[in-house]
Amino acid sequence: MLRYLTAGESHGESLACVLEGLPAGLAVSPADLRRELARRRAAPGRSARQRKEKDSFKVLSGMHRGATTGAPVAILIPNAAAKAHSPCSVPRPGHADLPGMLKYGFADAALIRERASARHTACVSAMGAFALRLLTETGARFSSRVVRLSMTENPSPEEARELIARAAADGDTLGGVFELTCSGLPAGLGSHVHHDRRLGARLGAALLGINGIKGFETGGGFDLSSWKGTLAARDRRVSGGLDGGMTNGGDLVLRCAMKPVPGTEAGVPSFDCRDGRPALSRSSTSDVTAVYAAAVVAEHAAALELASALLEKFGGDTMDEIKERVRVWRKKTAELTGR
Ligand SMILES: Cc1cc2nc3c(=O)[nH]c(=O)nc-3n(C[C@H](O)[C@H](O)[C@H](O)COP(=O)(O)O)c2cc1C
Repeated sequence: MLRYLTAGESHGESLACVLEGLPAGLAVSPADLRRELARRRAAPGRSARQRKEKDSFKVLSGMHRGATTGAPVAILIPNAAAKAHSPCSVPRPGHADLPGMLKYGFADAALIRERASARHTACVSAMGAFALRLLTETGARFSSRVVRLSMTENPSPEEARELIARAAADGDTLGGVFELTCSGLPAGLGSHVHHDRRLGARLGAALLGINGIKGFETGGGFDLSSWKGTLAARDRRVSGGLDGGMTNGGDLVLRCAMKPVPGTEAGVPSFDCRDGRPALSRSSTSDVTAVYAAAVVAEHAAALELASALLEKFGGDTMDEIKERVRVWRKKTAELTGR
């Protein structure tokens, strides 16, 4: 089983995370971390802040000569945009600000928004680099694509650029839908025996835990409600790689809907908590869309959950042990199904 924790605020000195449960002997290079962090940071639609952030990192523990030792991996990611605390009494609508202020008893929205910010997803991407390596080593492959940007289905890179530029010029923001596919997963990850062991539920929790994600579906998803059972029974797209809470050996297909970024430069009507008077909540560093970046983060969050399920199924303290067990399992399932 993999466990992880993240810590740090959006403009604090550093983000920090700890990933525990990796086997020994997983080769992960600084280039692997750099690549995954860059995919998230440089995704289309992001704000000027991302040009400032370098996402440099320091792996503090759990690695020796380019491979994991089995000990917890601790990673530090300094914030290039670190700055002194700046209190704010105007909560941003559509964000954690107001419920967080009420819950924790603060009159200062910054104390909530600093942690509620999606900046911490840089940690998910850094740890995701380890999970992706583990899955790749055992024969799985991940990909993600944006299947809807605002109202446009399957936007080409040029269409996306144009939509984002137009929204930016209008002072607006865009939501969308992205799809993750993971091929080559062994059958039998997850379980049917209890709700919290069903892999679809676990992946749903991981992906709905990403800021701004409002919908999650596997395989045929919401569309299936209008299909006839006789048709659905014959179509492999229905299961999306999961049956009864377990991988079935087919491609795993997950989709997430993301709301449009709520913060805009022009400002959103809100109120000042000091006197209850109307006030504008302004955000000078908002992404025009976070759908492309969230798709990358979702790959990493899903990879962490799938790597955890794989380690539960196959156990093992070293990568060699795990790879051998996966190989034997694949042979056995192939024999069982005659494929
Ligand atoms: C990678 C990423 C980047 C985001 N960037 C912004 C942003 O620049 N401005 C903003 O207002 N919201 C941004 N969001 C979305 C907010 O974090 C999210 O809308 C907010 O946390 C409230 O959403 P919730 O109710 O789903 O938690 C981003 C989300 C992600 C995953």
